[in-house]
Amino acid sequence: METIIDIRHLNKSFGSHEVLKDVNFSVNKGEVVTVIGSSGSGKSTLLRCINLLEYPTGGEINYRGENILSKSNLNDYRKHLGMVFQQFNLFNNWDVLHNCTVGQTKILKKSKEEAKEVAMNYLKVVGMERYINARPAQLSGGQKQRVAIARALSMQPDAILFDEPTSALDPEMVGEVLKVMKELAESGLTMIIVTHEMEFAREISDRIVFMDKGVIVEDGSPEQVFNNPQHERTKTFLKRALK
Ligand SMILES: Nc1ncnc2c1ncn2[C@@H]1O[C@H](COP(=O)(O)OP(=O)(O)OP(=O)(O)O)[C@@H](O)[C@H]1O
Ligand SMILES: [Mg+2]
Repeated sequence: METIIDIRHLNKSFGSHEVLKDVNFSVNKGEVVTVIGSSGSGKSTLLRCINLLEYPTGGEINYRGENILSKSNLNDYRKHLGMVFQQFNLFNNWDVLHNCTVGQTKILKKSKEEAKEVAMNYLKVVGMERYINARPAQLSGGQKQRVAIARALSMQPDAILFDEPTSALDPEMVGEVLKVMKELAESGLTMIIVTHEMEFAREISDRIVFMDKGVIVEDGSPEQVFNNPQHERTKTFLKRALK
């Protein structure tokens, strides 16, 4: 199996606060890995280090076998990873279509026509092709998040990282976003997801990673981690989370 990202001994500190401690973890092509854990355990920091929104303090991030932290051109690496944020982070002054084409033309240097074709394809995947001329402010939260997913897909990345994609949504809109994510998981997209939606995580993940206080405590199949957790900390977390 092809490993896309392999993290070795990753550390991240903010000042004297060690937020990630010797994190080791890898993701294979087509795998869906869900990271769970309490607030402040370092889940977002881990995702942000993987796509270099935060620069790690130590360790290695191996991308297709090369430690990208030893390279000078990090943009080359960044464009291979997509990110979907809790707060959507769409460009509010631009319409839906432009949100999904601008990265393609500016970063991937595609022609406008080609970028539009790719964007339309993914906007159809998320069911937003009828809204190409709308501005984000005219959309519901669930629609905005589906556009954000189409924008990430339009860059045709090797993997997409999702940081609590449904946490900012009204409850009635959570389902439409999870449904799109489930379809993507089934289509073979490589995904690293942070979520508090435990049933969803159990259903779509190949692996569950439980983090506590900056450490990966448990990493296994949903069956192993949810039904047969090995560590006391995992059991305590799940008891609260699965209530
Ligand atoms: N830019 C920063 N500067 C200083 N401290 C930070 C920064 N970003 C995160 N932290 C700290 O790192 C720790 C882990 O934060 P992180 O956001 O990764 O947690 P999380 O698991 O994503 O939590 P949540 O479930 O609430 O989103 C927290 O103590 C947080 O205060
Ligand atoms: Mg977070």
